[in-house]
Amino acid sequence: MRISVIGCGYLGAVHAACMAELGHEVIGLDVDERKVADLAAGVAPFHEPRFPELLARGVESGRLTFTTDPSLIADAQIHFIGVGTPQQQGRLGADMSYVDQAIATIIEHTAAGEDGVPVLVAGKSTVPVGTAQRLADRLDVSGKPFLLAWNPEFLREGYAVKDTLHPDRIVYGLSDDVARGEQAKLLLDECYAKLLAEGAPLVVSNYPTAELVKVAANSFLATKISFINAMAELCDATGGDVTRLAEAIGYDDRIGPKFLQAGIGFGGGCLPKDIRAFMARAGELGVDEALTFLREVDAINLRRRDRAVALAEEAICGLEGKRIAVLGITFKPDTDDLRDSPALDIANRLWDRGARLAIVDPAAAPRLNERRPEFETPATVEEAVAGADAVMVLTPWKEFVDLDPESIRGLVNQPVIIDGRNVLDPRRWHDAGWRYFGMGRGVSV
Ligand code: UGA
Repeated sequence: MRISVIGCGYLGAVHAACMAELGHEVIGLDVDERKVADLAAGVAPFHEPRFPELLARGVESGRLTFTTDPSLIADAQIHFIGVGTPQQQGRLGADMSYVDQAIATIIEHTAAGEDGVPVLVAGKSTVPVGTAQRLADRLDVSGKPFLLAWNPEFLREGYAVKDTLHPDRIVYGLSDDVARGEQAKLLLDECYAKLLAEGAPLVVSNYPTAELVKVAANSFLATKISFINAMAELCDATGGDVTRLAEAIGYDDRIGPKFLQAGIGFGGGCLPKDIRAFMARAGELGVDEALTFLREVDAINLRRRDRAVALAEEAICGLEGKRIAVLGITFKPDTDDLRDSPALDIANRLWDRGARLAIVDPAAAPRLNERRPEFETPATVEEAVAGADAVMVLTPWKEFVDLDPESIRGLVNQPVIIDGRNVLDPRRWHDAGWRYFGMGRGVSV
């Protein structure tokens, strides 16, 4: 099929490359010339495992192209919308201007369709419920033969390619007009034929359900993380160990072991802004009470950052002039994404309180240098910990989880390890002569 993907950020670029991998002819459109030049040259503009190979393969095959010229999307059979919906400046709600601009571009540049063959617009961005119907109404008055479907994306950074090519589920939100909904479904079925044939579960619903599925899933995940972080607070108050607690409750199938990792909390470009936008939307719909618990989820999450800073301060008796090695600065491993990163927020606060920082991150050092040139970013853990008064693991990259406490013990000024993600073995660090502090793991061993 001929496909366009509007917006070539994380979601759009990965989706475009995966659709080309499925054999479609794909054109990615973005306003950012530098990003388009990189992608068109087969160079990944962000860190994502497996994406560079897929991108290169697609570009070489000629099936995957990128452009800033909207006229080149004219003959696509499906336009996927993959633009961002960031949090509005100073407000909880989502900024919909990129989505609205994408629709305007599609309306303007889609070929007139004299033959009456329908063109499908498929929304992938995370949007406030009600958006799909609003956009469908706009497309309807354009005079062109558009269909609209809402087809949310559930990819995780770090696993984006796997999640797109082997999705847990595919969701179609279709028009209440049954005939048009059926036409849209046929186009999506053709597009995803390979994934469906491999057994990806398909859930078909109306527009609001599909929009809600996405924010409900992210809200549930955020709630699960804040729940275990609340238990971490209880553990800290009582001498319990939240990692054992999570293990024990996770054996119950109904609870499950995933997303029960207590620590400095969730961040990134999705979970925090999605729960806030969801609350804002519920307020507009007059059902804000249904989601007041998400306010608590957000508050618990932000308290984790205060806790990490306080822990560092207590452990080394004040921060002024102290040297702290920060291991990991991205919002999670296997990405170079710094959006709403709890690690970066904590680093900023330590810095504001007079600490000197040496930050190592396997992927994000260049981005960090652009954003905070005053931070030292040594290339190795050994350089970072040299002379440190505390070492803080803030993002659980594999190389930090596997760190050998013996080998770096002799390099530091004070053997204090703060495990912001509860990924280290306290006993092992203790035996190597360190004072270990976890997040909700009771008293220091
Ligand atoms: C999240 C969802 O997991 C995806 O399903 C969704 O498609 C995506 O948002 C999106 O809306 O686009 P992502 O932001 O890539 O994906 O990251 P997650 O893997 O969900 O992690 C989010 C944050 O939670 C990270 O900061 C991570 O460190 C933290 N986390 C995760 C914990 O603190 N504890 C856990 O047990 C799990």
